[in-house]
Amino acid sequence: MRWRSPPLPLLLLLPLLTPLVEGAKKSEFRICAFNLQKFNSAKASNSRVMHTLTRILSRCDISLLQEVMDPQGKAIKSLLAALNRETDRYENYTYKSLTSKSLGNDPEDMQQYVFIYKTETVSVLGQHQYQKKQSFVREPFAVEFQSPKTAIKKFILIPLHTDPKKVVKEIDQLYDVFMEVSKKWNNTNVMFLGDFHAGCAYMTRHDKKKIRLFKTMFSWLITDRVDTTVTEDTSCAFDRIVVHGQSFLKGIGPFSAKVFNYGAEFKLSHARVREISDSYPVEVKLKNSALLLQATPLLILLSVSAIVQSFLSAL
Ligand SMILES: *[C@@H]1O[C@H](CO)[C@@H](O)[C@H](O)[C@H]1NC(C)=O
Ligand SMILES: *[C@@H]1O[C@H](CO)[C@@H](O)[C@H](O)[C@H]1NC(C)=O
Repeated sequence: MRWRSPPLPLLLLLPLLTPLVEGAKKSEFRICAFNLQKFNSAKASNSRVMHTLTRILSRCDISLLQEVMDPQGKAIKSLLAALNRETDRYENYTYKSLTSKSLGNDPEDMQQYVFIYKTETVSVLGQHQYQKKQSFVREPFAVEFQSPKTAIKKFILIPLHTDPKKVVKEIDQLYDVFMEVSKKWNNTNVMFLGDFHAGCAYMTRHDKKKIRLFKTMFSWLITDRVDTTVTEDTSCAFDRIVVHGQSFLKGIGPFSAKVFNYGAEFKLSHARVREISDSYPVEVKLKNSALLLQATPLLILLSVSAIVQSFLSAL
């Protein structure tokens, strides 16, 4: 066999690949979950904290915030104002929020789940506060979203910030929430996310047998080996992202689920990092709906070039 140089059509295609990859990057869709550790008006009045927070959250199309203690809505209002102001300079996104009621058993420790999302890329179809008494300390506040940008058009996010004393029971009961909301909205594209305390002493390997979310139809995208805690002394995968079903899994960017170390990313001191939270956000990317369409002409060209190549070698 004689050595043949790569067929000309393939070489001509290479410059076409770069903008395709760039375009895909720009249009990626990111979902994030962040335990903000007592996010209240006092924290929101710290401009350093707010500046870093806007940098973190503006990376995400949807952010789920936990441990928000803002019954009057003042802290979230100023966070939204900062986000909408900050990004004016670079982009044209308008952020909105959707807040649950204050949840908990202790009047001193009532917390809200807050979703912040870009109105240009995603919209809210519905919301549902899980009600079953005695089930959770902070019952999940499920929201159904729709995005024209993503391969999965409609999906449901179910947040949970577990009570550290009831971790295994609460994670297990997410299965009941799944049954309720997937039926309510006729949609099994469900993602669970938040600070589950799903690691170290709170949830051991042995406990997994007792948790229905470890059945095969659920995929734990943030694995046990990940460290979502800020402190050097611990390495625990407390914050998690779990999806239901094969079709949702196929709509997720491969290996895109990760922890976002904003300290390392923005070169902040440990003290500055701790000012914001004791945990890092976790995130995942959804595949773009347009990617397949963009790729189709390319695939046709590649096949044509392969045919031409075999034709030439037959000569
Ligand atoms: C944002 O919108 C303004 C006014 O519509 C426009 O002039 C500007 O170019 C836009 N910026 C970007 C980055 O798209
Ligand atoms: C539920 O969704 C499926 C497709 O996902 C559809 O075929 C079916 O008709 C829907 N059922 C109802 C009651 O809307």
